[in-house]
Amino acid sequence: MQFKLIYISPNGTTEKTTQVLKNIIEKDGHAVEHINLGRGEYRQDFGPILETINAADIVGFGAPAYHMDMLESMKMFLQALQSAGRAYQFRAFLYLNYGGITSGKAFSNTAQVLEALNIPVIGAMKVTAPHFHHPDPFPTKTTEALIGDFYEAIKTKDFAPIATDRQQELFAVQKKRVDLLYPLVHIIGKKRELPITIKADRCKSCGKCVKECPVGAIRLDDVATIEGAKCIHCYHCSVACKLGAVAVPVEKLDTMIQLNKRIIGMESPLNAIYY
Ligand SMILES: Cc1cc2nc3c(=O)[nH]c(=O)nc-3n(C[C@H](O)[C@H](O)[C@H](O)COP(=O)(O)O)c2cc1C
Repeated sequence: MQFKLIYISPNGTTEKTTQVLKNIIEKDGHAVEHINLGRGEYRQDFGPILETINAADIVGFGAPAYHMDMLESMKMFLQALQSAGRAYQFRAFLYLNYGGITSGKAFSNTAQVLEALNIPVIGAMKVTAPHFHHPDPFPTKTTEALIGDFYEAIKTKDFAPIATDRQQELFAVQKKRVDLLYPLVHIIGKKRELPITIKADRCKSCGKCVKECPVGAIRLDDVATIEGAKCIHCYHCSVACKLGAVAVPVEKLDTMIQLNKRIIGMESPLNAIYY
């Protein structure tokens, strides 16, 4: 069978999950193409991916949770799938890397889009992963085992769509109040996006941040300049720049996460597979 793993991963953990999955699937004798939506020409143009997506039997959509949802770029890709107005023949699964706080919203939003497109969902997996400025190892042995279990589970049922009752589980938002709070949380989240400052005296115009920004939101003038409207606030530019020219108050990010953990609460279980 032909698999495609289409993913976005500003800070690299979803990419690592993708790599583990790819190895497992290839070892099982299938062909796997992996496509990073945040690299190269794909950042601006999903056209070539949409042209060939139907060649796959199974497509895995991998994204991290950012701001209580699947990361913007994945949502944009799913919208492009919708706008292309084609009939899709492949089956899909989802995988989410996250900090443990979306209360199911990231899955339910994405699964709903796939359902609207009549794309059968065969499974889903959520994996906890560290924040970019926390140097915890990833993937852990537990994560690798979970990914292996996930593949075995969907393979054992011959990649059949999720049964209706299990689908309810996937679509469920764990805390009902999140559905009510969600629009508010989103507005507050937008307002609390952290400022990203380019320090002109440190920037050597090397272009690393331009190359690595997953949405192509940075251009090089005399120094790097961020286009506010395009920026998705993943803060990867601050990680990519080794000259310390991109400043983000990460301690505020930690405070915000702590607050979200208190308001929303952590998902339980943190790691899970659905099939
Ligand atoms: C700006 C930002 C916002 C985030 N928002 C959430 C969130 O709302 N819920 C959550 O569970 N994790 C959240 N996370 C944690 C990420 O989902 C987690 O670090 C993930 O591993 C990132 O994936 P990546 O390394 O592929 O970019 C956030 C991380 C960042 C940097």
